[in-house]
Amino acid sequence: MSLPEPSYNDDVKSFAFTTVRDRWPKILNGAIGDLEEQVKKSPSNAETGNDIISKLRALLKAFQNDEIVAYFSEKEVSLNSSLSLYNAQLSKLNEKKKVTWLTGPWLFLECYLYALLNVYFISSPASFWHTYDVFNNLKNSTFQQSELGVVELCKRYRSLSEQLGEHKDEGTLKALFHEFADISLWGNATDLSLLAGSVSLEDIQSVQGEENRKKNEKNILVNDLDAAWKHLNNSKKERLDIVLDNAGFELFADLIFSLFALDSNLTKTVVLHCKSIPWFVSDVMPKDFLNLLGQLQDPNFFSKSHNSEDDNDALNAFVHELKRYYERGAIKVQTHPYWTLCNEYWTLPKATDLYNDLLKSDLVIFKGDLNYRKLTGDLLWNKTTAFSVAIQDLATSKLPILALRTCKADVVVGMPEGLDEKVAKEYSDMGKDGHFWPSSGKWAVVSFWLGYDV
Ligand code: F6P
Ligand code: MG
Repeated sequence: MSLPEPSYNDDVKSFAFTTVRDRWPKILNGAIGDLEEQVKKSPSNAETGNDIISKLRALLKAFQNDEIVAYFSEKEVSLNSSLSLYNAQLSKLNEKKKVTWLTGPWLFLECYLYALLNVYFISSPASFWHTYDVFNNLKNSTFQQSELGVVELCKRYRSLSEQLGEHKDEGTLKALFHEFADISLWGNATDLSLLAGSVSLEDIQSVQGEENRKKNEKNILVNDLDAAWKHLNNSKKERLDIVLDNAGFELFADLIFSLFALDSNLTKTVVLHCKSIPWFVSDVMPKDFLNLLGQLQDPNFFSKSHNSEDDNDALNAFVHELKRYYERGAIKVQTHPYWTLCNEYWTLPKATDLYNDLLKSDLVIFKGDLNYRKLTGDLLWNKTTAFSVAIQDLATSKLPILALRTCKADVVVGMPEGLDEKVAKEYSDMGKDGHFWPSSGKWAVVSFWLGYDV
């Protein structure tokens, strides 16, 4: 079977087109702003910091001039061996057409961009920059603005766990599974890289409230949660994996889901997979997990809630449970270089150490848009293509997969005939270009596949 083409950066009908011309420069300028502040604060690292700033400015020019994308040098590969896989992929793509910033394949180039940014930091002569997360301040300040949503969800968790204590019948558990999976799904609407576009913080916060979550249920265009529930409930209930997406509110929502799964004995362990380098602005690194724990306990971080007894109790109860599970190893935080490569997840069975580990899982949840793009290869599949077809080799990998994704890019699969047209009409009735509904962040897909044919 011949595969469809991927999204390309020069396709005006792709969200790639505006992302690379508008949002990438904003993200780089934001990073420059962060570094300028940091350089002022630590004069001893000013010179090396300014070097990184110059590289970022040169990269902005390379975008403007649509320069050819360069291979990573041997020295750079010696600092991060994963970069050799980027070079191999670049060489393959160059055989077809010389890859340039504004015309190359979107998924490859967007991953390459974050790998390149990381190279600027790890190759600095000053070790101060080697582990510096240029998006850390943005991650923290945005999470701080999620105070209302966080406290509301802590209270919801508290009341639902009380109910859970009383009724452990299957019907209640199933309803709660839906509720908590929904919380985790819409947590993905809090993508900090979207802040660089036209979506306001208010828009993002509006999907955090419970009321809005209910309203948003009709916006889940493909919903395989029942099948995922059936699978998980009949599984060994030993281990659940979450390939995380964004830090801050989304991570918090994923942790709420994790606590529910542990409290209700749907699993004994939750393994959280993080990125090992700063990635797509807001993705979770292990230190972001620890930061979140600290922030929830810090009276100055969510200061309003710490001044209200009820809010404070709800926050503390959540943190107490989270720490309890984490300290006894029921919640594990892991990283693997595979998650920051540029390839489709169809290659996962070839990353044998990671694959063999994931085979121990009863369910592997992939959060967010980028994970979905990698699951489906970011190819322009016909939207009625079955999810099991779009995930190619993963379909027979024996990994039970659940994708929880709000749509922020072109690719969508698994839709019934006619729905694409209906949603496009709905989006154009909002005064938008209907064709671009899949990248609006207003709709979501929940896709499940067992990992083998039945
Ligand atoms: O909105 C476009 C984008 O930057 C995509 O490049 C990427 O897939 C997505 O946002 C990141 O979203 P998420 O954090 O949900 O993976
Ligand atoms: Mg992300």
